[in-house]
Amino acid sequence: MKHTILLATGLFFLLFAMPARAEHEPNPNIGKHLYRAYCMVCHGAEGNTRGPLAKKRKLIPANLTGNRYQVMSVDKLADIIGYYGRKEGSQMPRWGDAIPESNLRHLASYVKQLTKKGLQFRGNVRRGRMIYKSACVACHGKRGKGNGILADLIGIAMVDFTEKGVMKKVSDATLLEIIRKGRGDFMPAWHGTLNDSEISDVAVFVRQLGR
Ligand code: HEC
Ligand code: HEC
Repeated sequence: MKHTILLATGLFFLLFAMPARAEHEPNPNIGKHLYRAYCMVCHGAEGNTRGPLAKKRKLIPANLTGNRYQVMSVDKLADIIGYYGRKEGSQMPRWGDAIPESNLRHLASYVKQLTKKGLQFRGNVRRGRMIYKSACVACHGKRGKGNGILADLIGIAMVDFTEKGVMKKVSDATLLEIIRKGRGDFMPAWHGTLNDSEISDVAVFVRQLGR
């Protein structure tokens, strides 16, 4: 009896809870939209300048490109963003009252990716890996070495994404462009099949293979 219940709960979890979770997984691309709507006026476009409202009200917002936030967990940072206003005398609005929990987590995942270098795109590595598995493995191979099942037949020497430095030569803008528009006769254009945020996700995954 106990086992049946356990099994049933397990199945329920797999069938219903998992997809719901994936949907609520923090997404930096959604976070970026929210950031532009709620935060940029004070923290500036890149998180490290004073936006127009900060200037007008003579505020000095925190610099969000610091390492401190990059190493913080999404939950911790979401909590700071949501409830920071509790701090006595803080000029930072209390976002937890206005922004739902799931959006606070999207925001946190975006803020975590703000760096001094100003990346041109942000993406979610985990989602990128899933997309890579279905869309790229056939040619680029499971590990990105350029030895997928179609690679031999195509007969074009393909870059090994895992070789250090190889993809460093390709700028962020070019990497997105290649995935979006394709290249040569065999690299398909993904624009229209993958949306912009999926293209960023898979690009971040490719970048990460070379680290
Ligand atoms: C009205 C201006 C204003 C807006 C809008 C604003 N902030 Fe802030 N924020 C501040 C100020 C000012 C500080 C730091 C000084 C303080 O506490 O008064 C701050 C501090 C922070 C901190 C640092 C907390 C810490 O102690 O490390 C984070 C993180 C942060 N803001 C994120 C955000 C995010 C994300 C948004 C958008 C949802 C946002 N802020 C919108 C003014 C603003
Ligand atoms: C049908 C085979 C095929 C598939 C599927 C495929 N690619 Fe490619 N890809 C190629 C080939 C062939 C090249 C080399 C093109 C050239 O240089 O002529 C290439 C080149 C690239 C490059 C440029 C590397 C360099 O030379 O600097 C990137 C980045 C890339 N692919 C990413 C992806 C991603 C991400 C996916 C999945 C969304 C993907 N590819 C799916 C065949 C494929």
